[in-house]
Amino acid sequence: MSYYVTTPIYYVNAEPHLGHAYSTIAADILARHMRQRGEDVFFLTGTDEHGEPVVQAAERQGLTPQALVDRNAPRFEELVGQIGASNDFFIRTTDAEHATKVQEIVQRVHDNGHVYEGMYEGWYCPRCADFKSEAEIGPHNTCLIHEIPLEREQQENWFFRLSTFQEPLERLFADRPDFVQPEFRRNEALAFINQGLQDVSLSRPKLSWGVPLPWDPEQVIYVWFDALLNYVTALSYARDGEDLTERFWPANHVIGKDILKFHTVYWPAFLLAAGLEVPRTVYVHGYLLMGEKKMSKSLGNVLDPVEVIERFGSDALRFYCFREVSFGQDGSVSAPGFEARYESELANDWGNLASRTLAMIDRYREGVVPDADPDPDLLGGADGFEGLDGRVREQLDAFAITAALETIWARVRRLNRYVEESKPWELAKHDSQSERLDLVVYNLAEGVRVLALLLHAYMPETSGRLLEALAEGNRELDAFGARDGGQRIERIAALFPKLEPQGTA
Ligand code: MSP
Repeated sequence: MSYYVTTPIYYVNAEPHLGHAYSTIAADILARHMRQRGEDVFFLTGTDEHGEPVVQAAERQGLTPQALVDRNAPRFEELVGQIGASNDFFIRTTDAEHATKVQEIVQRVHDNGHVYEGMYEGWYCPRCADFKSEAEIGPHNTCLIHEIPLEREQQENWFFRLSTFQEPLERLFADRPDFVQPEFRRNEALAFINQGLQDVSLSRPKLSWGVPLPWDPEQVIYVWFDALLNYVTALSYARDGEDLTERFWPANHVIGKDILKFHTVYWPAFLLAAGLEVPRTVYVHGYLLMGEKKMSKSLGNVLDPVEVIERFGSDALRFYCFREVSFGQDGSVSAPGFEARYESELANDWGNLASRTLAMIDRYREGVVPDADPDPDLLGGADGFEGLDGRVREQLDAFAITAALETIWARVRRLNRYVEESKPWELAKHDSQSERLDLVVYNLAEGVRVLALLLHAYMPETSGRLLEALAEGNRELDAFGARDGGQRIERIAALFPKLEPQGTA
């Protein structure tokens, strides 16, 4: 099966921050997990580089728009690398191939009779790059999202007949209840549709920075249609001499709640107009709230992704974002919150379990995993190992990234309990307990191995190191079932070293 997952493409006229990293990490967890299942995966992220805000920012800095985007886009691409994302391509909407493909698709929408020329008059938010309907206008004509004054716009441009997609969209939502997830976001999208859809601008008059309309080059394509089309255009040129569209389209889009209308209403309508298949799913996540500024031991008071990564590694950041805030909901993140989880869950629960397990194999069994059977004591119950793999697959199929992590973590806690209850250090004192010690050590090694396999999607760097130490070369989830002992392990440095107060590290 093919699995195509995308992130929103990021505006380059701001600095990359944790919110941008968040969507990318989410999509990366899904991509990595699906690869571990042997699916044919394509994972796309990139930058959204057209539109007036770019022109304005460039003017302020005395640059051309192209110079500005060329300077800023690499920062976003760098962040993608720093957070350990395994994207298969990085698209920039200023790529010449993207522009050509956008024009081709927009021309098709035109030829299919879905556009007309008209006069637009209404309220526009430059930060959203969005024309606002009545319900979206705040007091004194302000933007409800950015709380800034809206601009009154009057201009000749081309319109997309969104209104004619009222019925097809209603049908799409009725036929495919999981088209937009989670359900409360689906309801939000439906509420917007049910208000009655109005036609939307497809173009802006020239002078703007964008892709010219093929039949009226005095106008450029409205930046949102240009941007949304990245998900399709990328497949046509990501690989030299190969068009991947057939193989991977339609996609699963991971987006933030702020851009729901564009992805769940405009986007499927536009695809239908172009005669293309609509997305498989649009998953809408919440916001990481970073308002609270509280001092922490080593990170000061802001959670800067790059600083966290430099001090604690990208895995710790990846873990924290999805552990602290339930994926789908809004939730607060903070530097002290990060440190508390790092210390109690990564350094203690997981890191310590891994170190102890390797140490016990080393000390009690000369560094070789003994052979034994799965301990029935670990299999059953709500936090048992039986059926664990299937449960995690099911939850990630439903985009439940936080719930699946908790499913895994319940087993981390269970293995820690197992160590305390079975007291291998006592067993080691008595020759008569040797078989029992084999059983316990084997089960710890095996338990840690399967947890590292499941955690690989979340924390690829540390899980990879741990799997290597356990002499596990496989990363596929089919390597999940019990393996016989006999492997020679390696001791490794702590996966998550304990915190040191800043300055003494
Ligand atoms: N360029 C458009 C998207 C076009 S997609 C065809 C855009 N860019 S953006 O850079 O402003 O934001 C992109 C995404 O970043 C948001 O949708 C959201 O996914 C993510 N986030 C930005 N701030 C965020 C938080 N504070 N928390 C979580 N995610 C947030 O919109």
